[in-house]
Amino acid sequence: MSTSSGASATESVVAFAPGRVNLIGEHTDYNQGLALPFAIAPGVTVTAAVLPGDEIEAEAHDLGERDHFAITNPPHVNGWKGFVHGVVAELRAEGHTIPGARLHIAGELPRNSGLSSSAALTVALALALLKLSDSGEVNPVGVAQLASRVERDWVGADTGLLDQLAILCAAPGRAVFIDFRSLEIEPVPLALGEWRLALLDSGRPHDLAADGAGYQQRRRECEQAAQLLGLSSLRDATLASAQTLPPPLDLRVRHVVAENRRVEATVAALRRGDFAEVGHLLDLSHASLRDHYEVSTPEVERMVARAKAAGATGARLVGGGFGGHVLGLFAPDVGVPTDSFEVRPRAGARLL
Ligand code: GLA
Repeated sequence: MSTSSGASATESVVAFAPGRVNLIGEHTDYNQGLALPFAIAPGVTVTAAVLPGDEIEAEAHDLGERDHFAITNPPHVNGWKGFVHGVVAELRAEGHTIPGARLHIAGELPRNSGLSSSAALTVALALALLKLSDSGEVNPVGVAQLASRVERDWVGADTGLLDQLAILCAAPGRAVFIDFRSLEIEPVPLALGEWRLALLDSGRPHDLAADGAGYQQRRRECEQAAQLLGLSSLRDATLASAQTLPPPLDLRVRHVVAENRRVEATVAALRRGDFAEVGHLLDLSHASLRDHYEVSTPEVERMVARAKAAGATGARLVGGGFGGHVLGLFAPDVGVPTDSFEVRPRAGARLL
């Protein structure tokens, strides 16, 4: 992330935050586990300019909607406005001085598609407003935690830190290996060469705030399982300990334990350039998300089958599940399906 802010207030600024695709490591972030996401090209751009007074004027270009509110007391509201109000309130709660500003929001990232449009919006808003304020150095983990609080307390989506950290710490040509216990982040080369990664849309929207019952239920199940095992998180659970739990907790723990191992195995395979093995691990991850974590849907299954029939070496649902996109890995001699879109690891959030 190239976000070092000057100490003096800035008159206008443009911040960009990309969407993310998680190569592997699903439903591990809130279990203090491991994940391996990367940023993609489409994202959200926030242009911010200082205005006299103590109001924020915001415009969501793609929706053709506007908003304005007093910086000192942003009300809780639904939809995209809730993100803007939340970022302003949370930055102020951290002691930042936010000037009056006009914000213009535009993006090419599909909403509710499992590609983290919400986190991209939140992070882009935070970076733009931090630059306009009197802030010094920007700390990616701090911004990720703030963005996650906005989603939880202002939008109603209690997610882990996967999306925000991926977006803030991504680098071109790399995936980011994240350890959610230590919050250590290590770039890992994702040197695809002639191999290709492509996304297929299941057509079923994935909206964690509006339709998050399944996601929240999985979180509660993991907390319950950890409690029964006498652990502070499932990071230290084992396949043997999973067997002592009642269903469906046993299945949930099996997924989390095995998925962490698959992340480590994927990092090792990438370092060897062994994409056949990466594909195999993607298939195993999907089977576990479908059979043990039970977050797939018929629409997602159809897309995974489509990707495999088209010759994908591996394919799996990405993000929280219950809809969204499927990621396929295709060997050099295999064409990607015509209605998929190819993704490559790109730079993370930054000021333009
Ligand atoms: C969603 C959440 C993330 C993460 C994934 C599942 O994308 O926003 O925090 O939990 O689901 O890996």
